[in-house]
Amino acid sequence: MAKESKKMKSEGTPLYTIPGLTTEQGGEIATLLQDRLNALTDLHLTLKHIHWNVVGPHFVAVHEMLDPQVDAVREMSDTTAERIATLGLSPVGTPGALVADRGWDDYSLGRAGAIEHLGALDLVYSGVIEDHRKAIEATDDLDLVTQDMLIAQAGQLEQFHWFVRAHLETTGGQLATAGASSEVEAKEQAGRAGAKRKSA
Ligand SMILES: [Fe+2]
Repeated sequence: MAKESKKMKSEGTPLYTIPGLTTEQGGEIATLLQDRLNALTDLHLTLKHIHWNVVGPHFVAVHEMLDPQVDAVREMSDTTAERIATLGLSPVGTPGALVADRGWDDYSLGRAGAIEHLGALDLVYSGVIEDHRKAIEATDDLDLVTQDMLIAQAGQLEQFHWFVRAHLETTGGQLATAGASSEVEAKEQAGRAGAKRKSA
């Protein structure tokens, strides 16, 4: 593959689309879905990265909790990409295009404790879910079939987010990551809360 190869993009107006939609509408929905495809692909890769890099006392629990999430999110990527193709545009799944197009930074933790990773992952899930909900709103007047797919994905993502947050929650219902605005901040807050719990 040449390094200078033309950047692929799933946007524009397709030559055909789903019956009942204009090609402009099909293009608009597919473009919106490309961003969700980028987010979901990034998420399942990040979940695997955490699965490999988690250390410490909760290793097995967190390591094993993440694999079903990887599989489910990977399936969501597949469904989303195939919806883009159904709408008449070409889904872009290459790593370089993902990095060039995404509006967020790479996950910032390497080897770290389970609670620290979960603190950072809390923020990752928050970002993906917020943007998924924006896409759900945007498809309200455009395409209810695409919206239905996104709603089903959001429901599952929100449940996975709860699995993560349940590790960070006190019996009083407070999140260790409350108010954190970066993964590093969330990791530090979660780590401190975990240490306090151990010494209590
Ligand atoms: Fe594994």
